[in-house]
Amino acid sequence: MDLFKQVEALIAEIREAQPTDAEGLEQFRRRFVGTKNVIKPFFAEIRNIEADKRKAFGQLLNEAKQLAEQKFEMLKSSVAQAQEESEAQAFDLTAPAEPIELGARHPVAIVMDRIIDIFSRIGFAVAEGPEIEDDWHNFTAMNTPEDHPARDMQDTYYVMNDPGMLLRTHTSSVQAHVMTTQKPPIRIIAPGRVYRNETISARAHCQFHQVEGLYIDEGVSFADMKQTLLYFARQMYGPDARIRLRPSFFPFTEPSAEMDVYWGLKDETDYRITKGTGWLEILGCGMVDPNVLENCGIDSKRYTGFAFGMGIERQAMLQYRVSDIRLFFENDLRFLKQFRGAL
Ligand code: DAH
Repeated sequence: MDLFKQVEALIAEIREAQPTDAEGLEQFRRRFVGTKNVIKPFFAEIRNIEADKRKAFGQLLNEAKQLAEQKFEMLKSSVAQAQEESEAQAFDLTAPAEPIELGARHPVAIVMDRIIDIFSRIGFAVAEGPEIEDDWHNFTAMNTPEDHPARDMQDTYYVMNDPGMLLRTHTSSVQAHVMTTQKPPIRIIAPGRVYRNETISARAHCQFHQVEGLYIDEGVSFADMKQTLLYFARQMYGPDARIRLRPSFFPFTEPSAEMDVYWGLKDETDYRITKGTGWLEILGCGMVDPNVLENCGIDSKRYTGFAFGMGIERQAMLQYRVSDIRLFFENDLRFLKQFRGAL
């Protein structure tokens, strides 16, 4: 066959080629554009062509070469598109979804919510205050003026460029926020995080959580406090729970007490966690000191009230038999996953 006809046949072949997949595309590349493509050898034939047809043959060859290259670029994108489409079809929209792993609530949050729930059933509303607190709300308003020895027991972190600001040491600071902005009757609980300058150990941490309680009205008595706390203990620790109040001291209450719940002495752990007494200390409480009421602009002749504050980690440790307080703050999933579905 004459060389012109052979090249024209190749041009026709290039025009017609329509590979639909990567394999066909590769075959096209090797045949028409690769280093050993079928057009190349014809360039060597140019010198064998009669002189007057040489130019035309050269042009024909160039046309074949360019056409092959253009077509290859075009085919590359159309094959890629076809591939995407067929992958999209392979995606089964009716298949059931991948399961989403369920998280767990944090044990501190679980216990905190239980406490909130118990008190909200008898009319206590939730109040909040800032964790970065001023000296007045945390100490002075709570009858703990500067240089008062009770401040030593609650050393904390101070803001370096403003020593009047600190990380609150207790949720009692929320009492001052509520009493300066609301009028009695006041009946609130204040859950939240608090900070102390403590050496971290299995039993102590520089951050933990408390729930504060405050009830101010005319004629609120110590008996009201005791009955409220007994109700709490029975809801939290079972209908047979017993409590006892031991005299204590807090600057912001007078008289002050610590409340223990009877835990029992059934096994060796009970001996250890109750120090052999069977009783567990749960919270501090007392009648709000008249100085605190006056500091916050409440008439202490007319109103009385009680307050209490309890630690949450301690109760969570008891409830879930967690032996090291640090576990609550390490965010180790192996620990946290154990509380899936916990109530
Ligand atoms: N704020 C105290 C503490 O962190 C706990 C406390 C004791 C709170 C007696 C009170 C209270 O409201 O009346 O140790």
